Amino acid sequence: MAATGSAVGLGNIWKFPYIAGENGGGAFVLVYLVCILMIGIPIMIAEVLLGRRAQRNPINTMRHLAAQADASSYWQLIGWMGVLAGLFIMMFYSVVAGWALDYVVASAQGTFSGGDKNSVGAYFTELTQSTNLQIAWHSTFTILTVAVVAAGVTKGLGNAVRFMMPVLFVLLLVLLGYSYQQGNFMAGFNFLFSFDFSKLSGQSVLTAMGHAFFTLSLGMGAIMAYGSYMPKDASIAKTVCTVAFLDTLIALVAGMAIFPLVFANGIEPSAGPGLMFVSLPIAFGNMSGGDIFGTLFFVLVGVAAWSSAISLIEPGVAWLTETFNINRLAATGSMGLVAWLGGLGCIYSSDFFNFLDKLTANFMLPIGGLLIAIFTAWVMKRSHLNKELGDISGLSFNLWYASTRVFAPLGVLTIFVYEVYSLFA
Ligand code: PFF
Repeated sequence: MAATGSAVGLGNIWKFPYIAGENGGGAFVLVYLVCILMIGIPIMIAEVLLGRRAQRNPINTMRHLAAQADASSYWQLIGWMGVLAGLFIMMFYSVVAGWALDYVVASAQGTFSGGDKNSVGAYFTELTQSTNLQIAWHSTFTILTVAVVAAGVTKGLGNAVRFMMPVLFVLLLVLLGYSYQQGNFMAGFNFLFSFDFSKLSGQSVLTAMGHAFFTLSLGMGAIMAYGSYMPKDASIAKTVCTVAFLDTLIALVAGMAIFPLVFANGIEPSAGPGLMFVSLPIAFGNMSGGDIFGTLFFVLVGVAAWSSAISLIEPGVAWLTETFNINRLAATGSMGLVAWLGGLGCIYSSDFFNFLDKLTANFMLPIGGLLIAIFTAWVMKRSHLNKELGDISGLSFNLWYASTRVFAPLGVLTIFVYEVYSLFA
């Protein structure tokens, strides 16, 4: 449940539709799905496995496992980079989550009733131009996150997630139904699922792979930290496949709810980060009971973002408390403060926002994931891996092993090389 809470977040509902829109749709979606299957799932199994074997925070996990394998202590850099990546992501994540919180209030006040592309678009533009309002919401979200992490009440949140994720899913299905009736469903469907490879640049392929890492919370130790809390008798492979399946399903349903509305209302699919914040309120504003549904929807988006944000700062907090023996509140407070300051940077400068987004999703997470795969499949003893994944058949194990040892790393490297090549071609 916790891993699903981490994986399902703004990445699925906000980011996936808008980057699919910016990158031409179908071919991008296909590359993203292939990346989830061939790179994401094997590396996610590896990352959970490392955490569960060492039962420590990500930095100490890497240090411990490297020592156990007589390997260089530099492997702990994976943990360091992860802590940093988590902070960087939190900086822009809390700004977008803040927009969702603002939309809770706006929906409840009926701001979007009878709205169209122009009125809702103007509302979004006004919000993103108001530094004060954004600072207020981004601060609120940061405080909420810090409060939960400081209290260590992951259990309470686990329960909340267990209840709210299904509700979020049902609401997405309601939206999907609305889109089917009122939107341009075929245009949305064709956009997302018909492949036109001529639209695919090196940059798009890199974005698709980066998003596979981002959406699965992969390559930065978050999933490793959760793996360390996982009981020894739980099945890693089954858990990972379930999380990846649910995560992908939610992204695709969100996409299919949004794009028919985009096409029916004359919004550009490549409109960027505002895509969800403009298209969905139009739907809510024009359906009966829309104010209530809309309010509820944005509350749930906020909760989904919340349960993801917790895992963004948890690795750093676990490391601070376990290493320096400082209390949890101080550790969480300092992480929160750094993230909050960076968030101000994202509010004042959209270039900084975009820079952090690209740096983390397209580089830090895939590089982290690549190193995790190499460490697991080349440095660790095969018998140890076998023990952690003992519940799967010999064939499945070999398939995972070959993917983690060869195919997934090769995939990541190929995409990096293709990106560099197309930059200069
Ligand atoms: N997976 C989250 C999302 O899709 O919104 C984002 C995220 C959370 C990335 C936690 C990384 C992480 F460690």
